[in-house]
Amino acid sequence: MPSVLQDKNIVLGVTGSIACYKALDLTSKLAQQGASVDVILTTDAARFVTPLAFRSLTHRPVVTDMFDTHSELAVEHVALARRAEILAIAPATAHTLARLAQGLADDALTATALATEAPLLLAPAMDAHMWDHPATQHNMSLLRDRGAVVVGPGAGRLASGLVGMGRLAEPTEILGHIQAVLGRNSDLAGRTIVISAGGTREPIDPVRVITNRSSGKMGYALAEAARDRGARVILVSTVQGLDDPPAVEMVRVETAEQMKQAVLNATSQADALIMAAAVADYRPASVAPSKVKKSSNQWALDLEKTDDILAQATNPLVRIGFAAESNDLLQNARAKVTEKNLDLIVANDVTAEGSGFGADTNKVLLIHPNNQVDDLPLMSKPEVAHQVLDRVAAILQRKTHPEPQDHPCRHP
Ligand code: PMT
Repeated sequence: MPSVLQDKNIVLGVTGSIACYKALDLTSKLAQQGASVDVILTTDAARFVTPLAFRSLTHRPVVTDMFDTHSELAVEHVALARRAEILAIAPATAHTLARLAQGLADDALTATALATEAPLLLAPAMDAHMWDHPATQHNMSLLRDRGAVVVGPGAGRLASGLVGMGRLAEPTEILGHIQAVLGRNSDLAGRTIVISAGGTREPIDPVRVITNRSSGKMGYALAEAARDRGARVILVSTVQGLDDPPAVEMVRVETAEQMKQAVLNATSQADALIMAAAVADYRPASVAPSKVKKSSNQWALDLEKTDDILAQATNPLVRIGFAAESNDLLQNARAKVTEKNLDLIVANDVTAEGSGFGADTNKVLLIHPNNQVDDLPLMSKPEVAHQVLDRVAAILQRKTHPEPQDHPCRHP
């Protein structure tokens, strides 16, 4: 599955801030994923970074002057505005945000912003006092009301020495939001999908937990893929070692009981649930209030069953489970489709090389309720995610717009 950025026309505006260096990283990431990137540098941005640096990454001319006879804008004033599928401005200074809010067109970047019908994404970067100023906040709310997607700024130490809001969002964060905007009209547009990821942690005492080997990679790959296909994604996660996927709503949990509450809450309005999390089947029947001391040679733990989340989350139209098996994969997974009344189960043999827990790849069988089995080759987890979402999109389509013959015949 190609990246949502493949062959997309992205116009990247870069304005005068010390954070300009991060725009080079963003440009490189966009180009690596197959996007065609046209960079417009403001005069001040060109003092921080050279047009040559961007041209070397994009292999395209860089626009610095609206009246430059070599620039594409000079050939056709709104050429970039028309070609753009998104106009992203990163970093966006307070001054540029003010010009955009006012609708000025006094340089190549603001003229393009005024002329384009493409969505506008803004990643502000400035000193904390400038960000907090009522004028900037007013400009931001004007721009948001007009539909601009705003990414960041983050908090931290700023170039001025101040600590506060104003740091440019990280390039990966901006990239994720660009992907979400570009995927807006894809096959999962308008759908809400709840995805669970990671292994639950069941406390024994304040120090110890019972957990499993899930890294969360499979669930996170699903979340990013669903976002890139236009879905609103709610990710219920126990994961600690991965960055939050940008443009995804995060709900953090730890235990099976917390995951159950979060999933039931999130799915009350969702179209689909995909349970990629490895949920504890048993938890300690009681949690010791203080650390259990090493006194005897043996320690027997009394365990009780957890609730089955998939079985209880009956609200979504489409419900997908995963089956982590170490033997009799097909047989065990088929039984779970029936027991949990699922629309699909993704069965992985967690003992196979490059498959299951922690791996970057997975080898899965997609098992349908009619016993159809799609035996997929070993592929990356993002590729598996797209294969699963192809089925989710098709099942949603079938359930929301059934073919006439799917209706019971009321008037023979
Ligand atoms: O996270 P990674 O390192 O990338 O690894 C991915 C994975 C191996 C965790 C993933 O591919 C996977 O198989 N997830 C499901 C693991 C699991 O718990 O399987 P199960 O066969 O025990 O459960 C069947 C289904 O019921 C699962 O969808 C599970 O989320 C769900 N379940 C289980 C127990 C429970 N109390 N409630 C549930 O809803």
